Parts: sequence; structure tokens; C-alpha cells
Amino acid sequence: MTKISNAAAIDKKDYPNGNKKKDSFAIEEFCADRQDFLTKILTDFEDHLTEKAGHFLGYHVNLDLNHLMDLSPLLRFHINNVGDPFNDSSFSMHSKKFEVSVLDWFGQLWEIEKDECWGYVTNGGTEGNFQGLLLGRELLADGMLYTSRESHYSVFKAARMFRMDCIIIRTLTTGEIDCNDLREKLCLNKDKPAIINLNIGTTFKGGVDNLDLVIKTLEECGFSNDRFYIHCDAALSGLISPFLEQGPMFSFKKPIGSVSVSGHKLLGSSMPCGVVMTRKRYITTISKNIEYLNTLDNTISGSRNGLSSIFMWYSLNVKGRLGLQQDVKKCLMNAQYLRDRLKDAGISSMLNEMNFVVVFERPPNHEFIKYWNLSCEGNMTHVIAMPHVTVKMLEDFVNDFVQERNIWYQCGQIQPPCLAKEIGTSNCCCSIHGKGGLQNGN
Ligand SMILES: Cc1ncc(COP(=O)(O)O)c(C=O)c1O
Repeated sequence: MTKISNAAAIDKKDYPNGNKKKDSFAIEEFCADRQDFLTKILTDFEDHLTEKAGHFLGYHVNLDLNHLMDLSPLLRFHINNVGDPFNDSSFSMHSKKFEVSVLDWFGQLWEIEKDECWGYVTNGGTEGNFQGLLLGRELLADGMLYTSRESHYSVFKAARMFRMDCIIIRTLTTGEIDCNDLREKLCLNKDKPAIINLNIGTTFKGGVDNLDLVIKTLEECGFSNDRFYIHCDAALSGLISPFLEQGPMFSFKKPIGSVSVSGHKLLGSSMPCGVVMTRKRYITTISKNIEYLNTLDNTISGSRNGLSSIFMWYSLNVKGRLGLQQDVKKCLMNAQYLRDRLKDAGISSMLNEMNFVVVFERPPNHEFIKYWNLSCEGNMTHVIAMPHVTVKMLEDFVNDFVQERNIWYQCGQIQPPCLAKEIGTSNCCCSIHGKGGLQNGN
């Protein structure tokens, strides 16, 4: 069974000054060796994180961040980009020059002219979704929100926060929006404008909604360009799609209104961050002058993390387009490697085309899930081949899974779950749809 190292057991350690086995790190008022005590806790915590990173497989974050150590001298400053990135402010400790450079870079990637583009560096994909959907609602006040049932929870939360009527659309096995269902529902609500949340990579399966087909469906249902607004939730794939051989899955050359991407996903960052981008002409609807800051308020949050703009700027410079392209290529190959190894071992699994997200049978053991940091939904789990995930990690994972699985399912006497409904019969290896047996995948 998987090994739980000493470093992982940080909460079971003893600390100087009689501080023992605490559930949390209380703030100590009376502590004789305060510095020793603090240093010990922090070094142990660093070891704990290093150890966890070695088997962190189930979430969309890139843990390859060593280059960001170069930025540590900046940690002694408070850097706050409050307000509009393109407007200076009387709050001078900001990094808006870095922020605007990051926005220029993304603007070129997503094909929008510099003088037509507006955006900001967010606290993550969630905030970008809030900003994009709020703009949609402000532009089309009585619009209905359409989004697939596999959309991220932030989309449904935005609908509640902004009091938008939300119509949930069915999905295909791949996780992408079912345009036949979209058509039916659009036709029932022709009198109201449509605000579409388009998934450029769903959270669980990485399913990509077909932008061209969604636009065609809108047009065929009688929605002219001024009666729809498309927000693209491209949390992970906003930085993958432009580097694919088949070309980008979305672009501002098409009639989209906004895009949101996370910065801590493919690119990687010590703190959550992201970018939201829209057309400049849309932002005037929500901009308000704030006198005491001498700037415009048009962002979801007031105070904004000025370090994250510098972190993104630095990583984009260090990696460049070529580095990101190489990361994408490596991740695609690693995802295919994992899918093939699972299939060879007779484990039901699915990998969408040009995708990092490998979906497969949920392990029935909580400790195993916890050790490999897997994320689960129903009968499914997934591994996301992010840039820090190596072939060796995947090999160790498959070997561990195959070995444990023989124990869980008593070498074939108990049947693993059928995943035909979730990932399609052709991807299902259960006793009815596939080879059915438990095998030695080594
Ligand atoms: C499709 C999708 N949208 C939005 C988000 C939210 O992004 P963040 O965690 O950066 O807020 C995620 C997170 O995984 C996601 O997968």
C-alpha cells in the first residue's frame, strides 16, 4: 500500500516549548524560543508541501515553480493594483505596468487588437467568470444564462449572485455541451437575449464546447449578434488551446464577449491568479470614478493582488511561447501515456482529444485517493497531466493502483464499477462492455 512519509504527518509532530500534536498552529502569546518554534513549524511545513507535490495528481495546478524564488525580495512590499489596470491611481504602490504587459501578451494570444482590448489580472478563474458574466448581464439586462450541466460551480454561483435566470443544458459523453438541447431551449426563449457560458475545458472531463456550432445554433434560432453574449470559461485550456496543432478553440476574431483563464493552472503561480479579457467598449457600462483613489472602479474586487501580475509577467518571460508550447506537448503525451497504461491494465478510462484530463474508475479506498490527491465525482476520478507530473509519477501511480485494485476487488471476485454511462461503452472495461477481468498491468 502507498507510503505515508514522516513529512506528511506534520500535524503529529512535537515542537519546542511543549507544543505537541496540534490540530492547528495557534498563535502563541507566551513562547520562550519563539524564533526556533516558528522556524521549526515553517521548515516542517515546507517538507510537508514538498512531499505532497511528489504525488499530487488530481487537480489543475502546475507545481513546477522553482523559478519564482527569484521574486522573493518583493515579498516585503505591499503591492496593490486597486482599480482599472489602464488607469494610474493615487495609490502608488502598484504593479500596473506589469499587469498591462501581461494583458498585452494574452491579447495577442487570443487575437484582439490592443486598442479594442480591456482586462485585468484576477484572483483566479472564478473571479474572471464573475466579471465576464456580469458584463453579459449589464449589456443584455433581460438575458437568460445558458450553460452546460458540467460547468464549474462558479458559473451557477454567478447566476445566483447576479440574479440571472439560468438554463442548464445537457452534455455529451465527452463533457461538451449538447447543441441539440441548446437549440431546443433557445427556441423556447426566443424573446429574451442569450448569455452563453462556453466551456473551453470542463473541470472534470476537460470537455470543450464547440464555439462554431454554438454560434451557428444561436444564428439558426434567430439570435442576431446584438442579442447574444458569449463568455468563455477557459480556466485551464485558455493557455493550451492556442498551442494546439489544430489551432485555437476560441478567439476574439469570433463573436465572443469575454474570456477567463486561471494563471495558477497551466502557467503556474504561488498564489491563485488569472486573467479576464473583454472588448473595451463593453467596460464603460460598469466603470465608475472613485475620487479618493483617483481611478476607475470596474473590477470585481477592490484591492487587487499586485504580486500576481509580476509573477505571471515573470513566468511568461521565462517560458515564452516556445516554453509553453513544449509544456503543452509534454502534458498531452503524458496524458496519453497514462490512458494507455490504464487501458492495458483493463481499467475503464477516457481521454478527450488534445486533452490533459484522464478520467477513469474511482478507487474505492479513501487513503489511496488522499495519498494521490485525486478528485472524484460519482464513479469517476481523474488525473490531470500538469507540467509537474512526470512519467515516473504516472508509472508509480498505475503500479500502485493495479496492485491495490487486486486487493479491493479480491482478484476479480468482486466486479469493478461499470462506467459506460459516464465515459461511453467503448471506454468501459467492465465485465459487460470490456475485457472485464483484473489484470496485472506491470
Ligand atoms: C472550468 C473551470 N472554470 C473555473 C474554475 C475556477 O478557477 P479558479 O480555481 O482559478 O477560481 C475551474 C477550476 O478548476 C475550472 O475547472
